[in-house]
Amino acid sequence: MSNISRLHEIVQLKELARKGGGQDRIDGQHNKGRLTARERIELLLDEGSFEEFDILKTHRCTNFGMENSKIYSDGVITGYGTIDNRQVFIFSQDFTVFGGSLSLAYAEKICKIMDMAYKVGAPVIGLNDSGGARIQEGVDSLAGYADIFLKNVMYSGVIPQISAVLGPCAGGAVYSPAITDFIVMSRGSHMFVTGPKVVKTVTNEDVTEEVLGGTTVHASKSGTVHFTTDDEQEALALIRKLVSYIPQNNMGTVPVVSCKDPIDREDEILDGIIPDSPSVPYDMLDIIHSVVDEGEFLEIQRYFAPNIVCGFARMNGKSVGIVANQPRYLAGVLDINSSRKAARFVRFCDSFNIPILTFVDVPGFLPGTVQEHGGIILHGAKLLYAFAEATVPKVTVITRKAYGGAYDVMSSKHLRGDVNFAWPTAEIAVMGAEGAVEILYKKELSKSTGSDDKKRYEEEYRDTFANPLVAAERGYIDDIIRPARTRFRVIKSLEMLVTKSDSNPAKKHGNIPL
Ligand code: HXC
Repeated sequence: MSNISRLHEIVQLKELARKGGGQDRIDGQHNKGRLTARERIELLLDEGSFEEFDILKTHRCTNFGMENSKIYSDGVITGYGTIDNRQVFIFSQDFTVFGGSLSLAYAEKICKIMDMAYKVGAPVIGLNDSGGARIQEGVDSLAGYADIFLKNVMYSGVIPQISAVLGPCAGGAVYSPAITDFIVMSRGSHMFVTGPKVVKTVTNEDVTEEVLGGTTVHASKSGTVHFTTDDEQEALALIRKLVSYIPQNNMGTVPVVSCKDPIDREDEILDGIIPDSPSVPYDMLDIIHSVVDEGEFLEIQRYFAPNIVCGFARMNGKSVGIVANQPRYLAGVLDINSSRKAARFVRFCDSFNIPILTFVDVPGFLPGTVQEHGGIILHGAKLLYAFAEATVPKVTVITRKAYGGAYDVMSSKHLRGDVNFAWPTAEIAVMGAEGAVEILYKKELSKSTGSDDKKRYEEEYRDTFANPLVAAERGYIDDIIRPARTRFRVIKSLEMLVTKSDSNPAKKHGNIPL
């Protein structure tokens, strides 16, 4: 065969590979309202930037006649490209080939790009759409999954790992996305360890795929996913946005974009945003939007534990991770879910050198048997642990309540907060006035006939503690600032901290209360 004919043959084989499982199955995918693996890559990456690996790779299985059924690429497209000119590695599962099910060869393709991403220090993005382990491959497929899990774990905290779930994601297949830093899930896709049929057999429970593991469940109940979108296009656009906030690796610095928003912009609305009554809520998002560059905030897990807000923004063009109690939900209390949510986010930011800006308005930990029996002690400790071990720049602003243990937990000075501000409306105390006087004046109140005494005691308590002065006198608060100036003061602090270097004692790893 001449060189020209050989080249021609290779071109044809690649053409064949690009057709995946064939036109009928591609049409099937489109008829379900889904894109193909290659269409997804085109949408996610900068135009023309995709470079593919292993397009001609096939499986090596000989069970169930599989030796006669080989499709080039074997159900997963892998390679690298750019998002806004920054390098990323990608794998995209092709449901048209054996239902996107995972063979050992397929796993090798994924591991290859993960290794390369690690060596060059760039994020890995996985687009999942698969029937799980390739049944014909048996244990080889399970081995392939475990190879991927191991790499997910080894590279966790070294390179950012992002998953999109754009179709079925069942069985052990869920665990690779679960280890990654962020999961984006589009409507109509499903994630579960065991599907409805197995559930019926084992527990006799009738449940649909949607109820078992649809977007609503994972966004609001399980907290497994960080973003849900109406369709795949939105999911892919969201990944591009997410990547724009994140450094390339754990040695990198945050991406910088040009900032047109003046750093000394004041917002007088903030001076009056805290209601006079301590029990009246306000929206912490209004404060966040006011303070950050151009009001842009990418919130993660919006529907899960909304009593705490986490997400990315920029201050003077540089990314920050924001953690904020949300008084609009459960008065911003810390509970099991909000502690888990914020702890993981803080640890992500710390892994990848993203400074953390914390807004505090927290009445404490949520009391009750549900919380205590559910392990609020352990879960609350996760957040405490995460803030304490974080060595990135940490700036904290107490807007109103900072009560009890929650004051300590929320990036206080005592947990190595670098710059801790309070607004004049801050109340830093062991607990709120009502609860405190019940304990302090128990005897007096039992003898008292009217409610005037209680009010007087509460006022006395508030005068003493419901302000930031005592904490400022002790240096636990670096300054009491005018709310309207928050943006400027935070930016100045972050710029001062840009060369911060801090470390933890040498150890194999800590033992976070999981
Ligand atoms: C081999 C598979 C497959 C699999 C689907 N296919 N799943 N082939 N191994 N796991 C093939 C089908 O034979 C079919 O081939 C094509 O993919 C499309 O599948 P359909 O069933 O026609 O599609 P649909 O109706 O959309 O249903 C999709 C599905 C369903 C919900 C994913 O296929 C399904 O339930 N598959 C099995 C899921 C599963 O139980 N996986 C194993 C999980 S256990 P043709 O030739 O007709 O196009 C697991 C363990 C991992 O993953 C452990 C790691 C630790």
